[in-house]
Amino acid sequence: MPFATLRQVLEAAREGRYGVGAFNVNNMESLQGIMAAAARCNSPVIIQASRGALKYTNLNYLRHLMLAAVELNPNIPVVLHLDHGDKIETVREAIALGFTSVMIDASHFPFEENVRITKEVCDYAHPRGVSVEAELGTLGGIEEDVSGHVQLTNPDQAVEFINRTGVDALAVAIGTSHGAYKFKSAPVLATDLVRTISDRTHKPLVMHGSSSVPADIKKMINDYGGRMPEAVGVPMESIVASIANGVCKINVDTDSRMAMTAAIRKVFHDDPTKFDPRDYLGPAREAITDMVESKMRAFGCAGHA
Ligand code: G3H
Ligand code: 13P
Ligand code: NA
Ligand code: ZN
Repeated sequence: MPFATLRQVLEAAREGRYGVGAFNVNNMESLQGIMAAAARCNSPVIIQASRGALKYTNLNYLRHLMLAAVELNPNIPVVLHLDHGDKIETVREAIALGFTSVMIDASHFPFEENVRITKEVCDYAHPRGVSVEAELGTLGGIEEDVSGHVQLTNPDQAVEFINRTGVDALAVAIGTSHGAYKFKSAPVLATDLVRTISDRTHKPLVMHGSSSVPADIKKMINDYGGRMPEAVGVPMESIVASIANGVCKINVDTDSRMAMTAAIRKVFHDDPTKFDPRDYLGPAREAITDMVESKMRAFGCAGHA
């Protein structure tokens, strides 16, 4: 069975000093696109579903899509991960569905409450063989942060948090932010902080908001009738530097959305008579494969299946 836990895949990544991509899915084509990339470059892969994805796909459709991905790729370690779980009930639901890993994100609560909720999730998940990711800090661009909203992860708190909860991986706030409109110019990430937290906790660290928002894909979207405002994402050099310092899981959603959208817009632009969904979802699926493959090679997880 190629089902893997987050713990297995990330401990190997930490040991081997590479990063593993965690890609969000909402539909069959994105899942197929990601799995084709993993197969092509012989890489472990983390497939993750947000609460929005669970709702959109209806639990059973998602469950069977994920089972198909695992069944058809017997040589690829696949982690099925709940992204940004909000409470223990959601975690229970995901585990019942067959997820091998869950994130509990209680990072918006005060520290003690985050510890309490995260520990409750670990106590539930670990005896069932399921890994847990939690988060400490508040994401956001360091230079964009005029209102003082961003809270980088505190290393002392990270050590205490891990000791008291027993989490398998910790998402850290180091200056990244979610979505397509991250930064006005190339961000400065707190890569030294990653090194400090990694050296002190000896745990795999997770980077959320790691899409690069590629300028060429955005141009393609806008050239073919889209209207995405100017903004930049996280440059690959910054991700590679963070991996060298202890980041082992890299979360990507926005770049897949953009790759898919650009491909679909191009089909409709080039031939407005098209109406068979396979004619645009097929190219969208290929665009995801290309994007994911290039990330797997850059993160260093290619060849580590
Ligand atoms: O971090 C959030 C992910 O990009 C998932 O987004 O909640 O819209 O599915 P979503
Ligand atoms: P992006 O919006 O940068 O793709 O981040 C995705 C993410 O962190 C999912 O948890
Ligand atoms: Na947070
Ligand atoms: Zn996230």
